[in-house]
Amino acid sequence: MSYHLDGIAPHGGQLVNRIATPEQKQTFLSKADFLPRIQLDERAISDLEMIAIGGFSPITGFMNQKDYESVVTDMRLANGLPWAIPITLSVSEEVAGSLEIDSLVRLDNPAGDFIGVLELTQKYHYDKIHEAINVYRTNDAKHPGVQVVYNQGAVYLAGGVWLLDRHPHPEFPKYQIDPVESRQLFHARGWKTIVGFQTRNPIHRAHEYIQKCALEIVDGLFLHPLVGATKEDDIPADVRMRCYEILLDKYYPKDRVILAINPSAMRYAGPREAIFHALIRKNYGCTHFIVGRDHAGVGNYYGTYDAQHIFSEFAPEELGIVPMMFEHAFYCTRTKQMATSKTSPSTSEERIHLSGTKVREMLRRGELPPPEFSRPEVAAELARAMQLPL
Ligand code: ADX
Repeated sequence: MSYHLDGIAPHGGQLVNRIATPEQKQTFLSKADFLPRIQLDERAISDLEMIAIGGFSPITGFMNQKDYESVVTDMRLANGLPWAIPITLSVSEEVAGSLEIDSLVRLDNPAGDFIGVLELTQKYHYDKIHEAINVYRTNDAKHPGVQVVYNQGAVYLAGGVWLLDRHPHPEFPKYQIDPVESRQLFHARGWKTIVGFQTRNPIHRAHEYIQKCALEIVDGLFLHPLVGATKEDDIPADVRMRCYEILLDKYYPKDRVILAINPSAMRYAGPREAIFHALIRKNYGCTHFIVGRDHAGVGNYYGTYDAQHIFSEFAPEELGIVPMMFEHAFYCTRTKQMATSKTSPSTSEERIHLSGTKVREMLRRGELPPPEFSRPEVAAELARAMQLPL
């Protein structure tokens, strides 16, 4: 594994920076009124942001056909580097037809603000079912990731992108720590080994247990919840962030954890997304990454440990970040502690674990999940948030 002065090497060797320089920005602004415009949705905005700050290094723009097809079929960019999720920008036939290759396209947010630029190099058609089956392992339109593919435009646009400005996050500015900064923070703290943790949920005791098992081994924990687009019934990011703060304040050693937001959108692609999540955290400077049960899964589309098995399809040095894999964790009433079947002789009746769906149902009824499942302060905050009228 190669180390830079500022820690582990980013994926592909160099941290990408596609935030426009003041001169570039001036040039783009002077052309703004004359450029064709595309309005980005929430996912495309977060992709643009992740590319710009280097979170998706070595990706510098929306994928061309060669990279896209290689990623979909082989989980590699055309140059052979592992990459598991296509980063694409879709538009309708009509919009695609109006755009000229080798020209600039203005990228707007839904409010019509000019936020970035695409250097359009290619437009291509793609096979939605092929993408669904390969990336999501299903062609079921009910799968939330597949649904996005089926509903989007028929043409992908490719080319490098530039973000006009890096604005502070509107809700969580204090936790917006980009890869350049997280690397500096790890260095300043003297951390050589850092474990990244992905989550789209409040942190319950099983999450806490696997994080702390990892913390017994590495120097620091980079708690990196995803705050980009998630599906409707996931718990909103603002509620989760309050829960993380409450939890960290009381139950974690302050000098061993950094909380930061991951702006990217959830794909629910299970195994492939675990690889994607690991590579993103490598770019933020993590040396290790936690993969537990059904990572980034949804419904029953993936086997409990598929997201762990997929790591064996790559040589460790190709990925350059070490997965720390954990079995399904639960509270064991026999040994009175958190455990997995690797550390507890309990029968299934002696294990307390609740599904996310079950917990959401309890909270909606105003019931608190038990302390064996969730720290009481976190449960109370969730209950409070879930009962607020919509
Ligand atoms: S995810 O979609 O962001 O991966 P989630 O927030 O549920 O979902 O999980 C965060 C991480 O904790 C993932 O690596 C997941 O595999 C792991 N995890 C969640 N629950 C458990 C559990 N009970 N036992 C072991 N690992 C778990």
